[in-house]
Amino acid sequence: MAMRDFGKDNNSGNVRKMFKSISGRYDLLNTLITFGRDKSWRKYVVQEASLKQDALILDAGTGTGRIMQEALLSNRSIKTFGTDFTIEMMLAGKNEVNGISWCCADALNLPFPDSVFDAVTSGYLIRNVTDTRRAFMEQVRTVKPGGRVVCLETSPPPQNILRPFILLYLKFIIPMLGFLFAGNKNAYQYLTSSTERFKTPEELSLIMRDAGLYDIRIKRFMFGTIAVLSGIRRVHL
Ligand SMILES: C[S@@+](CC[C@H](N)C(=O)[O-])C[C@H]1O[C@@H](n2cnc3c(N)ncnc32)[C@H](O)[C@@H]1O
Repeated sequence: MAMRDFGKDNNSGNVRKMFKSISGRYDLLNTLITFGRDKSWRKYVVQEASLKQDALILDAGTGTGRIMQEALLSNRSIKTFGTDFTIEMMLAGKNEVNGISWCCADALNLPFPDSVFDAVTSGYLIRNVTDTRRAFMEQVRTVKPGGRVVCLETSPPPQNILRPFILLYLKFIIPMLGFLFAGNKNAYQYLTSSTERFKTPEELSLIMRDAGLYDIRIKRFMFGTIAVLSGIRRVHL
């Protein structure tokens, strides 16, 4: 597993500490709180990445590597890099998922040259970084012109009739499940509060466009609380 220096600001430190504390239970909790739907969203991410034979793909903020696992299941010929700055998350996934090249690195300072990957993906990373725009710029820098950048992220609950029920689920049920199954209510309170105050998919799509992507598509899941956004890298940035 390659090592790389990364940001030492407080926010990054807290995020790393939090994911370290839940690393052993992260996948289980994900399955529980999404009613098992998380796998299908990751499959959709891989579909959006449009991977050809022998493609080279990067998953930024890979955690336990589940997006790369889906990518490898869909096409054994591809080569996958998974990067994350919480080494414990990658260690938790390492025994479960074969075929990934793991690399400990900051998503705001990716240790790869320009234009090397056929696609770059991320799952629930963007909400956690200190600089959304820079995270997308790094993904755009490292993907080849014409390659896709795909982002899976939670979204603030839409203003509709379901909103009170969704808020109830987010604010009370998810933290309770976090407490019961991961022994960590705070981490799951953070998940819900960061989701509530995060950017809408439309706002994210503008940032992606400014970072150098075009043909940006948005697909929503789970009553609009999950979105997959994807865009193609322009030739000239
Ligand atoms: C919610 S988990 C998502 C894991 C995985 N992508 C998935 O789909 O389940 C977010 C991951 O992003 C990582 N992360 C957050 N900020 C990061 C940064 N600036 N650089 C690298 N990894 C980061 C965390 O360590 C954590 O493993």
